[in-house]
Amino acid sequence: MKTNIAQHTYLAKEIADPVFLQALPKAELHLHLEGSLEPELMLKLARRNGISLPYSTIDEIKQAYNFHNLQSFLDIYYQCAEALQTQQDFFDLTWAYLLKCHEEGVVHVEPFFDPQTHTERGLEFKTAILGIHQALEQGKKDLGISYGLILCFLRHLPEAAALECLASAKPYLSLLIGVGLDSSEQGNPPDKFTEVFKLARELGLKAVAHAGEEGPAHYIVQALDILKVHRIDHGVRCTQDNSLMERLNSQQTPLTVCPLSNTKLKVYTHMSEHPVLKLLDLGLNVCINSDDPAFFGGYLLANYQALVDDLNLNRGQAAQLAANSINSSFLSSNRKEEILSVLIKVASKN
Ligand code: ADE
Ligand code: ZN
Repeated sequence: MKTNIAQHTYLAKEIADPVFLQALPKAELHLHLEGSLEPELMLKLARRNGISLPYSTIDEIKQAYNFHNLQSFLDIYYQCAEALQTQQDFFDLTWAYLLKCHEEGVVHVEPFFDPQTHTERGLEFKTAILGIHQALEQGKKDLGISYGLILCFLRHLPEAAALECLASAKPYLSLLIGVGLDSSEQGNPPDKFTEVFKLARELGLKAVAHAGEEGPAHYIVQALDILKVHRIDHGVRCTQDNSLMERLNSQQTPLTVCPLSNTKLKVYTHMSEHPVLKLLDLGLNVCINSDDPAFFGGYLLANYQALVDDLNLNRGQAAQLAANSINSSFLSSNRKEEILSVLIKVASKN
């Protein structure tokens, strides 16, 4: 059900200010936990674990974060993940992210993690999921942030590896809400993962997939028709195909859009070219997310602020984006209604 929040918003056409953006209750639905590993924590964990990384200072790390496309980022991202070794490391990583969410008015999260990134280098499957789960539970109890955890398959690896990963996940199914698909998009279409997504759905898991980030619009169609996903992660390349845009609009398929990621990875050369507000104004179900905030220059509020700075995001649009994030989550209808009623109060206050 679509909630039209803009119409409840006081001074809807006013530019959204930071206090208003923070106060809106928001969900984050597209966040890679490994991508929230800040340089400071990375160096601390590397030292703690006796791991040598290609960087020894924060400055060296920040200089390396100069990407020209998705692959140039992923090469560094997988290297940095080597700092993560123990269950405690995954707890610390997730807890640091949740503290940030708490500061920024994020009340619900559905983060991704990539077990294959860790099992491929010898960690046990349970190390990552148990550390992450422990932090998410603590976040729910101490910070009031609800959650659903999503396991992503790495699409540059064969489907057989994804099937193995799903088999390893079976004892931990109760800790997961769904599966996703990430990593190098071009040349790795969604239909490569038909079987593993079918099995995951049969196990009762929800499905999402990255599609139309760098890859063509027809990868979005495949993700919907073959993987039967509930949401498309990114999806911005839908603008190449008018009939797809009409379909996404009429079906209200959620697109978890990540503006700072798209400019850092040169999907767009400048934020002023980003189509997210055009899609929103056309009625598509887009929401804002930070993807890999430690690598792309900011968390959720920085993404909203970038839209203020370069696309004049107004209060009505900001409130609608926040409402879309809640409605597109896997939360129960009751909890959605609860959050949306707070959101309407915030939006309609002067
Ligand atoms: N893994 C982490 N961030 C990603 C992104 N933006 N696209 C694909 N895979 C990713
Ligand atoms: Zn992503």
